Amino acid sequence: MPGMYFVSLEEGGRTRKELATRNLVRGYSVYGEPLVRVNGDEYRIWIPYRSKLAAFIVKGFRGDFIRPGSSILYLGAAQGTTVSHVSDVVGLSGIIYAIEISRVAMSELLGVASRKKNIVPILADARRPESYMGRVLQVDYLYCDVAQPNQAELFVNNARYFLKEGGKGMIAIKARSIDVVADPRRVFAKERDVLKKGGFEIIDQRELEPFEKDHMMIYAEWKGT
Ligand SMILES: C[S@@+](CC[C@H](N)C(=O)[O-])C[C@H]1O[C@@H](n2cnc3c(N)ncnc32)[C@H](O)[C@@H]1O
Repeated sequence: MPGMYFVSLEEGGRTRKELATRNLVRGYSVYGEPLVRVNGDEYRIWIPYRSKLAAFIVKGFRGDFIRPGSSILYLGAAQGTTVSHVSDVVGLSGIIYAIEISRVAMSELLGVASRKKNIVPILADARRPESYMGRVLQVDYLYCDVAQPNQAELFVNNARYFLKEGGKGMIAIKARSIDVVADPRRVFAKERDVLKKGGFEIIDQRELEPFEKDHMMIYAEWKGT
């Protein structure tokens, strides 16, 4: 997929392939991830145990999701771990609107955004997209990882405001955040229903084991309402 790479690493006489993005800011490691030089370019290893988007790709996702020049609305940016790799992928001709509700997480995200100039950090509640309407333009992609009970509803609601028709969305569903006792498969089925009724057509879905327990990533196309 454009902007995403598998680089070969040698360790103890063995070679293994790791997912990576080309570093937008040479020498800058955001969360302690290794930096690797290949043919004069620098790559950041994208660790699937730290990023659900990386886990989804390592588990075989190969659809159309972000490329150089893309615009993306990212809900639940946290300290910017995954956002920082998305920033590498979309490059300086792309833009990431990064929504985060926690002031503590936002203070770290601001540090990342000061180095990576395509990130627009926005302290806001993703349940209230109208509150950032003036600051976010229509986007090609929507990504959601807020680990909240009502995340499928807020995902649909944000798509109504900001996702271009035919745009793609990706949502990480954490079963235990929605219902601690229910069978995760029932929880995933219920969330898929909310997405379909809301106007998404589901294209791909994968559980994220062994990287994340009881998590599913759903990838869908926005058909509008
Ligand atoms: C699982 S973490 C996100 C990790 C991040 N996506 C990454 O991979 O680097 C969930 C984040 O969502 C944020 N969050 C929870 N509810 C939210 C809401 N209603 N609006 C915006 N952010 C929210 C939390 O503060 C937390 O930082």
